[in-house]
Amino acid sequence: INTLLICGGGGSEHDVSLRTADFIEEKLAAAKDIALLRVEMDNSGCLTDSQGRVYHIFYDRKIRDEKGNSWDVDYVIPAIHGYPGETGDLQSQLDMFGIPYFGSAPEPSKICFNKIKTKMWLSALGIDNTPYEFLHSLEIEELEKAHSALEAWGEVFVKASNQGSSVGCFKVSDTSELEAAIEDAFKLSPYVLIEKALKARELEVAVYAYNNEIIATRPGEIRAPSDTFYTYKEKYAEGSRAVTFIEAAELDEEQLQWIAKVSLRTFKALKLKDLSRIDFFLTETGELYLNEVNTFPGMTPNSMFPKMMENHGHNFSEYLTGLIRSAVS
Ligand code: ADP
Ligand code: DAL
Ligand code: MG
Repeated sequence: INTLLICGGGGSEHDVSLRTADFIEEKLAAAKDIALLRVEMDNSGCLTDSQGRVYHIFYDRKIRDEKGNSWDVDYVIPAIHGYPGETGDLQSQLDMFGIPYFGSAPEPSKICFNKIKTKMWLSALGIDNTPYEFLHSLEIEELEKAHSALEAWGEVFVKASNQGSSVGCFKVSDTSELEAAIEDAFKLSPYVLIEKALKARELEVAVYAYNNEIIATRPGEIRAPSDTFYTYKEKYAEGSRAVTFIEAAELDEEQLQWIAKVSLRTFKALKLKDLSRIDFFLTETGELYLNEVNTFPGMTPNSMFPKMMENHGHNFSEYLTGLIRSAVS
């Protein structure tokens, strides 16, 4: 089965995606019936393999190199966090050409990669999410809204709407720093959220389809150092001080059930496919909020999705090879 693993991409999470692709490549290495071609996408959409050969994107289910050699594509793994993978753009092209792929379709990808759209959907579905204001520009009325939010909540997160891995995400408690953070966030995304900063535990759930059943694992937990939050550096840099737990301790039955129910409902209602990681906050006063839905979660050595899946008793290699085989059979 000719499988194209596309990584990199044009967004701020390019390098994270390469690490996710390393993990996937390793997990598929033993599958003799899967011929994997790994290509890295640059900022202009150009695809290059490890030998430096340049490829053009597929049409009639083929990929072609610069010399005109063509290669049939049976299945695609768009291992890209952010544009154009997690945003659904690449998947739209794959749908047009009828090529099956790993992960969600364009529409749910678009909804989940935009933090404001996600919140609108969650609210429409009656799923609790962190209180927020939404800014569409730097106009004075918009900035006033942000100042009022900071005054009301004491501390806020300013977030670029269309980013991941904590890029464009700033914790602000000082009014004098608010507008600079908003400007920085607008440089990265067309919309900006001002979110109430919660004093909360961070929980993550791997939610995925396995043999036609949707599974929500027990929540894992991230503990960022107390002097910061779960920043890009704490997520990926060597010497990260963040601590992860594959199973969060001391959650009561009611909390576990709520998280499982909301995770499954979100996966189904947003029409996600194959995999996701759904993240929650549990506040000091016991309130649970859904934070975000990742349609292509990180699979770096520190990332939680594969670990939670394996902890649940599902082998990632078997899971992905099974999906590939059934998609092309
Ligand atoms: P990303 O998609 O970049 O991961 P998140 O919304 O998950 O964006 O925010 C990144 C990190 O910022 C979270 O993992 C958490 O540490 C912190 N954070 C984000 N929003 C809040 C909030 N409302 N209250 C407390 N911490 C937050
Ligand atoms: N966006 C990163 C890769 C994650 O959430 O895992
Ligand atoms: Mg996150």
